[in-house]
Amino acid sequence: MAVAAPPVAPKHIPVLGHVLSLTRDPIGFLQNLRAHGDIVTFYLGTRPVHQINSPELIRQVLVTDARHFSRGKIFAKARQLFGDGLATADEPAHMRQRRVMQPAFHHDRIAGYVNVMREQIDETVGGWVPNKPIMLEQEMAGLTLRVTAKALFQADLGQAAVAEVYRSLDPILNGLAKRSMMPVELFERIPTPGNRRFDAALRRLLAVVDDVIAAYRAGGVDHGDLLSMLVTHVEDDDEVRAQVLNILMAGTETTATTLSWACHELVRHPDVADRVAAEAESVLNGRIGGADPDRMTYVDRVLTETLRLHTPIWLLMRTATATVRLGDVTLRPGAEVMVSMPTLHRDPALFPDPTRFDPDRWQGQGATDLPRMSFIPFGAGGHKCIGEKFAWAEMTVAVAAVCARWRLRLRPGHQVREVARAFLRPNGLPMIPCLVDTAGSAV
Ligand code: HEM
Repeated sequence: MAVAAPPVAPKHIPVLGHVLSLTRDPIGFLQNLRAHGDIVTFYLGTRPVHQINSPELIRQVLVTDARHFSRGKIFAKARQLFGDGLATADEPAHMRQRRVMQPAFHHDRIAGYVNVMREQIDETVGGWVPNKPIMLEQEMAGLTLRVTAKALFQADLGQAAVAEVYRSLDPILNGLAKRSMMPVELFERIPTPGNRRFDAALRRLLAVVDDVIAAYRAGGVDHGDLLSMLVTHVEDDDEVRAQVLNILMAGTETTATTLSWACHELVRHPDVADRVAAEAESVLNGRIGGADPDRMTYVDRVLTETLRLHTPIWLLMRTATATVRLGDVTLRPGAEVMVSMPTLHRDPALFPDPTRFDPDRWQGQGATDLPRMSFIPFGAGGHKCIGEKFAWAEMTVAVAAVCARWRLRLRPGHQVREVARAFLRPNGLPMIPCLVDTAGSAV
């Protein structure tokens, strides 16, 4: 598709392309492409994908020339399954939907959600028992799902429905990522146990969401939440359902994964945990879960550094809809391009000593001198995350509440690895919560 062809990634195998290298170590593979140029081609089977490595060209794809790109294949796949929602729609539907949804994510509305966040975080963190092991990533997944469900669909997703969404979402998200990487669609139709699990989970999830929408329509009450707003402004129930699913898909695992990584880094860096606790103490005044997200500047740096090193969304994909010139490469309509966030966020030219977790790199000159588009955990341009402020408030309150009360310890013998599925996650975080005594040490 490209006229001045970009270099092809090493270890290309006929027919298979780079699927083996990608399956073995996707993040390492994509990071190594950086050394080969600003645009590098790799193959999913026989399908070429062009990875964009320079911040300027990334800006062109996501912002200045965004009108010449549609969403990538992963979104087309999600759209087939869930219908057209904000996180999957292309223009002009996308702009119309964004206008309907935007008011629910305004700064003043977020302030209202913070109360729900506090309640849920208090319940989660307050429920831990000293020295009784927890699986942290599951705690965080449950937390963010309840927060999202309660803040945006305030009335009753109902306990049972929330549990059902929780059970179904994970196999669906992972199945979706796998399917978009498959060179041939036929694989999806083979009744393998994985495909059957995916189909069953999807059926359950759709049924639950349809029930909630029907209950809202029947009740006719404005709960002041996103679903009430959708039901009022959108007549088509399929579109309402698509939006609900989009928010659940986009807003829960992303935030939960980031929170899990943040806690992992706090375990590895007790000095950072102490500084967070000190800041939390001065802001919380003893009220667990009472953090004011706007006042926590150190927690802000901790979360920023977590998002740099452990960006949960590890790739953005787009498809050219017109001929586009990117640097000295010309892309034809249909060409697939990709931005890999770990490749960008771990570039030593942008972030010296990139694998080091260092929240203080985000203060002073170093942070302000960064080229535009070198740090894009929430994306950029017209599709930039609508839930960024929501996620930020939730993560700030959660990290402050955890550190104010607990010091976590990793279960001895467990090795944490990153696993690239739908999101870039830890392989598991078995933790032991220990109470903090008044002198700040774990007891
Ligand atoms: C740490 C947490 C989060 C991260 C890292 C994150 C990241 C992202 C990224 C990178 C995109 C852009 C995708 C693209 O350009 O193709 C995006 C879009 C989106 N996010 Fe988030 N997100 C987070 C939390 C949330 C939350 C809490 C919500 C909702 C409650 C949400 C809802 C959405 C939606 C609806 C879109 C599509 C926006 C559009 O295309 O107009 N996200 N997110």
